[in-house]
Amino acid sequence: MRIVIMGAPGSGKGTQAALIVKELDLDHISTGDLLRAAVAEGSKLGLKAKQVMDRGELVSDDIVLGLLEQRLRSGGDAGFILDGFPRNIAQAKALDTLLERLGQPVEEALQIDVDEEQVVQRIAKRAALEGRSDDTEETVRNRLKVYADQTAPVVDYYAHKGILSRVLGDGSIEEVFQRIRGVLQIQGDS
Ligand code: AP5
Repeated sequence: MRIVIMGAPGSGKGTQAALIVKELDLDHISTGDLLRAAVAEGSKLGLKAKQVMDRGELVSDDIVLGLLEQRLRSGGDAGFILDGFPRNIAQAKALDTLLERLGQPVEEALQIDVDEEQVVQRIAKRAALEGRSDDTEETVRNRLKVYADQTAPVVDYYAHKGILSRVLGDGSIEEVFQRIRGVLQIQGDS
């Protein structure tokens, strides 16, 4: 199965994607993780990306698409879940072109809906525990604005393609996962 998982910062994309890949044996591809790995390597690309990420803006489409293509080509045939990509309509269109070329179109787009105050609280908690450099209050507010302006329209893009499902992302991690299991028709006990 080939899935795109979407939602605001802190909506639980990464958490739920990790649970889905365990059940469906998919490849978990997070563009945020790919970028953080480039930052950790200290490459020129990583340093450039870090400045943008710390402002809560989107890294340029060219850079992210390059990292993604490299990662997709090194993956197997089992399918994947894309977490954090696409983030604007240009990326959604570029993804369609890329996956068409690879013969692996997206089959399911999953949107997690959580209200803004809840995601701000979740990220504040993570900031205290992990200290991710883009989890400061100011940057989080900007990430949410960028999400509303640039990423939210991607939800309609997939709705028009007829492959969008939405799940409510409040409640415990397990409660949200059970909703996702229903949508993806994952059978059996978890
Ligand atoms: P990215 O890493 O994708 O961050 P994000 O979208 O802001 O999302 P988060 O990781 O904050 O949240 P999440 O929805 O994955 O939730 P999580 O499961 O972690 O991107 C970071 C930056 O990289 C971007 O701002 C941008 O600069 C750049 N970037 C990335 N992709 C890009 C692209 N395609 N194009 C351009 N730039 C790009 O959960 C959050 C917290 O809540 C965790 O602590 C978790 O334990 C907790 N939690 C999760 N679910 C629950 C629950 N149900 N109840 C209570 N707590 C919960």
